[in-house]
Amino acid sequence: MKFRLPALPLAMIATLAFVPAPVVAQQHHPWDDKTLSPDVRADMVIKEMTLDEKIQLVHGTGWGALREGDPIPPRSNKGAGYTEGIPRLGIPDINLADSAVGVRLAATESRYATLLPSTLGAASSWDVQGAQLYGSVIGRELRAQGYNMSIGGGVDITREPRNGRNFEYAGEDPVLAGTMTGNLMKGLQSQQIMGDIKHYAYNDQETGREILSAHVDKKAGRESDLLAFQIAIGIAQPAGVMCSYNRVDSVYACENDYLLNDVLKKDFGFKGWVLSDWEATHSTVKAALAGLDMEMPGLDYFGAPLKQAVEKGEVPLSRVEDMDHRILRSMFAVGVVDNPPMPRSVVDPFKGLEDAQHIEEESIVLLKNANGALPLKSTVRSVAIIGSHADKGILSGGGSAQVDPPGGNVIDPRPGEPKWQETVYFPSSPMKYIRKQAPEAKIEFNEGTDAASAAALAKSSDVAIVFVNQVMHEGEDAKTLSLPGNQDELVSAVAAANPHTIVVLETGGPVTMPWAEKVEGILSTWYPGIGGGEAIANVLFGTVNPSGKLPVTFAKRDADLPHPEIAGMNLKEGPDHKLPPFDVNYTEGAKVGYKWYESQHIQPLFPFGFGLSYTTYAYSDLKVKEGGKEVSFSIKNTGSRAGAEIAEVYGALPKAAGEAYKRLVAFDRVDLAPGESKTVTLKIDPLYLSVFLVDKDAFELLPGEYRLTVGPSSDKTPLEQTVSIRK
Ligand code: BGC
Repeated sequence: MKFRLPALPLAMIATLAFVPAPVVAQQHHPWDDKTLSPDVRADMVIKEMTLDEKIQLVHGTGWGALREGDPIPPRSNKGAGYTEGIPRLGIPDINLADSAVGVRLAATESRYATLLPSTLGAASSWDVQGAQLYGSVIGRELRAQGYNMSIGGGVDITREPRNGRNFEYAGEDPVLAGTMTGNLMKGLQSQQIMGDIKHYAYNDQETGREILSAHVDKKAGRESDLLAFQIAIGIAQPAGVMCSYNRVDSVYACENDYLLNDVLKKDFGFKGWVLSDWEATHSTVKAALAGLDMEMPGLDYFGAPLKQAVEKGEVPLSRVEDMDHRILRSMFAVGVVDNPPMPRSVVDPFKGLEDAQHIEEESIVLLKNANGALPLKSTVRSVAIIGSHADKGILSGGGSAQVDPPGGNVIDPRPGEPKWQETVYFPSSPMKYIRKQAPEAKIEFNEGTDAASAAALAKSSDVAIVFVNQVMHEGEDAKTLSLPGNQDELVSAVAAANPHTIVVLETGGPVTMPWAEKVEGILSTWYPGIGGGEAIANVLFGTVNPSGKLPVTFAKRDADLPHPEIAGMNLKEGPDHKLPPFDVNYTEGAKVGYKWYESQHIQPLFPFGFGLSYTTYAYSDLKVKEGGKEVSFSIKNTGSRAGAEIAEVYGALPKAAGEAYKRLVAFDRVDLAPGESKTVTLKIDPLYLSVFLVDKDAFELLPGEYRLTVGPSSDKTPLEQTVSIRK
C-alpha cells in the first residue's frame, strides 16, 4: 500500500487492543422488534421504567476520566461523558467521546485515533461526500474503541474570526457550514454511532464563554447562526444537540426556552435530545421546562433535585418521560441498541491516514501563485524549509478537540495524552515528503526563530518555503488576526532574501499577511491532519492539483472586522479568577463574513470562496429554471491539468429585503479533465433565499426580483441572471 503511518511506534500498534465490557441485550424484550418505529420502541421501554431509572438516563455520572482523581464508573469507556444504561431492560450505557477532528483521549488507554484535518479545513473542500467520509472515519474509530456517541459536530459560524475554536467549526456561511457539518454527522451516524451538533447557540468566542450574553436580533439570528444549526440538524438528524455555556439575551443557552423549545424542537423539528455542555446546566426546574434533556457531565441538577422536582409537581413526569423518549428513540434510530459497539476490533490506522490525507488534499487552498511559482519542479536544486517544526511534523488544534499524537508530541515526546492546551505536533513531516518529491535537491531546515539566519539560508537556496502557524485551542481566543511571535518579520526577511518564497500556513482560521505582496506563493493548509506532511508536499510539487476554497474571509486587518476587538478581552478577572458578566452585541446581525465586507464595501485580503488551481476554468450558459428553484450552467477546464472546480451560486434578494449583500445558495465540486466541459444542475432551497419575518415567526420568500450569480468565488461571479419570484 502507498501510505505508511509516520512514526507510529510498533509498541503502540501492539497495544491497540482493549477490553471495555459492553452492555448487550441478552434477554428478549418486546421492543427488540426492529420493525417497530424508534418512537414506539422508546415508549414501550418507558412504560417499564421506574422513576429512578427515568432520572438516571437524563444525567451523567461526573467528570470521570476528564478530571484527575475523579471516580470513573466501572463500565465507563473513559471518554468525556458517561450515562448509565438500564441492563435489565437491555438499554446500553451511553459512552460519549469528544471527537471533533478525531477521537480524543486514546493514548491513555493505549488506543490509537486518526487525526483528521481541522473541520474548518475540510469545509474548504466543499465536498459533501468528503464530509461524510470524514464523519465515517470518526464513527468507525469510535465503534472500534467501544464508544456509542460522538460529541463533535461543531457548527458555530465564524462570527468572530479570532475565536479559538474556529478550527472545530465549518466557516462563516450558514449554508456551507450547515451542509458540511450535517453531512459529517450523517457519515458518522452511518456507522451506527450517535452524533451531536454543538454548541447551540452563539458560542462564537471563547473569551468569557461561560458568562457572556450574546445579543443578536431574532431575524438576523435565524438567518445566520441558527440557520447553520437548522441545516445541519435537518441533514444529519443527530441524536444530540449540545447547548452552549454562554447566555443568549441574558438567559443561559441550556435553559433558554426560546432557543430550545421554540426554535430547536418546534421549528427545526429536532427529535433527539439536548445535552448540556460540560457544567453548562444552571438549574433544575427552569432548565427542564425550557427543554434541556440531559445534564452533563454530572448530576447536580438532573439527579436527585430533578426527582424531587417531579415529586413536588414542579416538573411534570411527562417532561422527564419526554427527555427519556428523546434519548431512547435516538438510540433505537441510530442503531446502538440493535448493534452495540463490541470490543472486537482495533482502529485501522492506515485506512484512517489514507482518508485523512485525501481530505486534506481536497482542503488545501492555494491563495497566491505568482509567476507560476507552483508547482515546484522535482528538479529544483535547493530548498530552504523554514519554521513551524516542518522538519518533524504538523500542528494540531487543542482543547477538547485534541487528538493524542501517536508516539507522543513530536516536539516534546512523552508517553500518554498531551496536557490541556499544550501545543502538539503530529508525526507527519512535510520536509520528509518534500525530500521524496525532490530526491536530488539539497534540502535544509532552519527553525525560523532567528529571522536573519533563516534569511541567510533562503538566500543560498533556489526556493524558500516558510511554514507559519497560529496555535489555537478551546478556552482562549487569538488577541489579533496577526500571526503570533516574530512570524511576520520572519516571512518578510526571507522574502527579501529570496524572491521565490512560498508560505505554508498552518492556522486555526484566518490571519493577516502584511507580506502577501512580497511572496510568490501562499498555501493555507489549516491544521492538516496525520496525512498533512505528504498532502502539503503533493500540492507543492503538483502531484495533487489544489482545489480548496476559503470557507472564511481573510481580512486585511483587525480594524476591518465588525468588532475590531474581541468583547471582554480587556476585562479583568475578579478574585474568583472569573470575568464579570458582560454583553456581546452582535450589531452586524446576519452580516457575517463576506456579507459584512460586501455591505461595508471593504476589500478583504482574500475573499470567501476564493482558491486557485494549477488549471483554469471558464463558466458559461447560465439558465435559471423552476422559477428560481434550479440553475444550470457549464464549466470548462480550459487548462492542461485535471482538476476539481468548486462552483458557487449566490442570490441577491429583492430591494424590499434591505440586504446590501448576496447569500450563498448552492455549490458543487466538479471534477474536470483537461478540456472537458460539464453542465452542472443545482437545486436552490427556497429557504436560503427567504427572510425570517419576526411577526409571522416564519421564513418567507418575498415576491420580487432575485439576482442569481454564479462563479468561482464570492468576489467573482461571471454569470448572472435575474428571476422574478411571485407569491
Ligand atoms: C467543551 C465541549 C466538550 C466538553 C467535553 C467542553 O469544555 O465546550 O465542546 O465536548 O467540554 O470535553
